[in-house]
Amino acid sequence: MIEVLKSADDLARQKWDVLIPTMGALHPGHQSLIKLAKNYGEKIVVSIFVNPLQFENKIDLENYPKTIETDMQMAMDAGATAVFAPSEEEIYPSKIEQVNAGELGDLFEGAARVGHFSGVLTVVKRLFDLVKPKHAIFGEKDFQQLFLIKEMVEKLQLPVNIVSAPTIRDANNLALSSRNLRLSESEKKTANVIFQALSTNSLEKAKEVINGQPLFQLDYLNLIDEETFKDAGPATKSKRLIIAGWVNQVRLIDNKAVGGK
Ligand code: PAF
Repeated sequence: MIEVLKSADDLARQKWDVLIPTMGALHPGHQSLIKLAKNYGEKIVVSIFVNPLQFENKIDLENYPKTIETDMQMAMDAGATAVFAPSEEEIYPSKIEQVNAGELGDLFEGAARVGHFSGVLTVVKRLFDLVKPKHAIFGEKDFQQLFLIKEMVEKLQLPVNIVSAPTIRDANNLALSSRNLRLSESEKKTANVIFQALSTNSLEKAKEVINGQPLFQLDYLNLIDEETFKDAGPATKSKRLIIAGWVNQVRLIDNKAVGGK
């Protein structure tokens, strides 16, 4: 079985090349991050911590899937060295420095989830402080999260290299997420509209595609500048379509570089 670490002391016995922060409920998308980690070093630790600070809704937090045994097996199969599964007291002792996600923290995903990104940044910073990895890997699926983490690392000059990993998709081109488990087969087919819209490489055409699928309830669809996360303009070099919405009661998010695969 894979080594399971619980405390800062456990972590301190080894030097970690790569950290992959997760909240558990691992799926092949997470495994792809672990496989990518092998390009960056041998000692790979996957953290599993369901972070209460990033849940604005208590019921969501209580219902968050906890599958630690399967997670350990999946982490091991993908090639991780260890799993770091700390208690809440270990991550949040009485005094802990909070990180504020700033203005962008209140837009797009942040508009729907008040305080979410400050909670994410606070736990990620804490994990970096505890694990001290040379590299940390995050999926591009959560593109706003990835952007804010890179921004935090730069601003606070944290000694860690942030690696972004491409989104893994299922047979319907739906970005892998633990939430997909709550979709029926026909709902997954409905959700394919997201990838169809992103594949148009155009905001106008993407809107038309979305409008043609009444079972998808759009939250936002924007064309952003990847370097600033502001609306793309004529001078923008790298553009990305970002989208969020609901199929039935399940909130889905995705994004794709314009012209990208
Ligand atoms: O993307 C996630 O699973 C979480 O937001 C993260 C980065 C593990 C922080 O809790």
